[in-house]
Amino acid sequence: MQIHKHDAIIIGAGGAGLMAALYASKGGADVAVVSKLYPTRSHTGTAQGGIGAALGNLDEDKPIYHTYDTVKGGDYLADQHAAKILAENAVEAVIELEHMGLPFDRTSEKRISQRRFGGHTRNFGEELVRRACHAADRTGHMILQTLYQQCIKNEVNFFDEFQVVDLIVVDGVVAGVVAIELGTGEFHIFHGKACFFASGGWGRCWSVTSNAHSLTGDGAAIALRRGLPLQDMEFFQFHPTGIYRMGILITEGVRGEGGVLINSVGERFMERYAPSAKDLASRDVVSRAIYLETRAGRSIKNRGYVHLDVRPQTVNRYFAEEGRDRKDFIDESMVERKLPDILDFCRTYLGVDPVKEPMPVQPTAHYAMGGIPTNIDAEVLIDAEGTVMLGAYAAGETACVSVHGANRLGTNSLVDLVVFGRRGGMKMAEYVKGAAWAPLPKDAGAEIEAEFERIRQGAGKSRPGELRHLMQATMMDNVGVFRTEETLRQGINDLAELRERFYKDLHIDDKSRVFNTDLMEAWELGCLLDLADVTARTALERKESRGAHSREDFKKRDDENWLAHSLIYQEGALSDPSYVAHFDKKVDLSLWEAEIAAGLPVDQQKFKPKERVY
Ligand code: FUM
Repeated sequence: MQIHKHDAIIIGAGGAGLMAALYASKGGADVAVVSKLYPTRSHTGTAQGGIGAALGNLDEDKPIYHTYDTVKGGDYLADQHAAKILAENAVEAVIELEHMGLPFDRTSEKRISQRRFGGHTRNFGEELVRRACHAADRTGHMILQTLYQQCIKNEVNFFDEFQVVDLIVVDGVVAGVVAIELGTGEFHIFHGKACFFASGGWGRCWSVTSNAHSLTGDGAAIALRRGLPLQDMEFFQFHPTGIYRMGILITEGVRGEGGVLINSVGERFMERYAPSAKDLASRDVVSRAIYLETRAGRSIKNRGYVHLDVRPQTVNRYFAEEGRDRKDFIDESMVERKLPDILDFCRTYLGVDPVKEPMPVQPTAHYAMGGIPTNIDAEVLIDAEGTVMLGAYAAGETACVSVHGANRLGTNSLVDLVVFGRRGGMKMAEYVKGAAWAPLPKDAGAEIEAEFERIRQGAGKSRPGELRHLMQATMMDNVGVFRTEETLRQGINDLAELRERFYKDLHIDDKSRVFNTDLMEAWELGCLLDLADVTARTALERKESRGAHSREDFKKRDDENWLAHSLIYQEGALSDPSYVAHFDKKVDLSLWEAEIAAGLPVDQQKFKPKERVY
């Protein structure tokens, strides 16, 4: 196997990976980014509506309000100190992106323009605030392009279309990764002093998802298989507005610009579920509302979708009813200018023109709140006590800091990846300066090479595509927006059967080495099966409802017993693993504790977990 040696190896070239690469290289480290995609095709590029930062360009705003919204939106499972860092660092991160050349939209005073997004408020919930800094509905795309240019300028080494398939650990210290060069099928070893997981999420566990085909959770699955825990895996967010059946994201920015959700009887139903935030209530609330409307027989044509209406006549009618200033009213040209990609998607994929017709939407699997546990410097943690694994870092969707708690607010994923990518990059540069090279084991890479050979030789009857389809269907039906013990057990049993077929009866048609997508997709399916399994298992164990985890058999949030993070570990053979889940990692409640220490009476304590109706 060819061996490459670099101080810092970054797995994934989305926003978190590029930010980490940039800052590690600025800190003097020799950095290699290893990515299964060409960097600017990474999934950060699909983030649409904006990046949250309390710039206060259009409304009065402060980082502490952003912190409060993040903690409350996360249903109090977010670590409060980390949420504060997220909100505070967001301001300088956005200004830095602007200075790097990111073409944000502008206000009439030429400041960065901002729009409303669900759950983002001023003065601790008083009213919605314009906080999402945007570049049309292509904000993530612009971030990716900007950071990639900066990395090239900073001489970061890129290994594009190299897929990382294993982590090398020597005596508990990270020593590198094993990757496959997709174009040749050759295995390579990347020997490093530190490895940074920035490999994204695993929305492809579900059949309707906003996630690209590449979002198969490789990094998180590799970490799990190498003995690391995954944190808060039961919390997976469904974005309320995916294109019906396709799942492609329709940005919350549509509702931020005034768009409304309408059921089959022409009712703006969110007025009933969230009388003050309405269509801009947090995502868990809106997704559940769409399911409840469907159950009540009020989805369009009884097919499980509702309409998202951003036609100027509709929006302006509601604006008038709400007494909004006429200067907020919209017209067709504004919709065209502010939401060009959305219009394009709907016109291209649906033949629906959103300035003339409403868009058919349904909840779509969107974002993993859980992942590889880290501290606020992106250092990977191996237990509930916060012990750091030397040389291991993670940020972005594959990681769990935890700032999103049980439910992420829109725009906070982009904030997360720039803030913690940057902090992690700096920390890693510092670490590699003093760290020794862990020697590579003689058989490095042998185990994973054998596993790939097993998959390649598969001569059973079960094709990866069929197994993936069945996994996605059971996850959608049984481990989706609403859950019960019965559905979760069904999901776990279905996954066990699929695992059995995956390890005992797999069939691969393509036996070649060059760009063998059949082989790679089969391996990715194994990763998805592991992540689906830990999601269902932790969801079964958490006997309460919180954020995106809505148990119909335990409808209340139960802070007394469940205000804690979960950690799940995988043990034993991949074909027949066992799992150990703990629910004893403390949630950081330091902002609330500071309020108590300052002698604030209970009714003035902003960060005290508040009751929530499900
Ligand atoms: O709705 C959106 O534009 C998505 C943003 C996000 O997930 O943060």
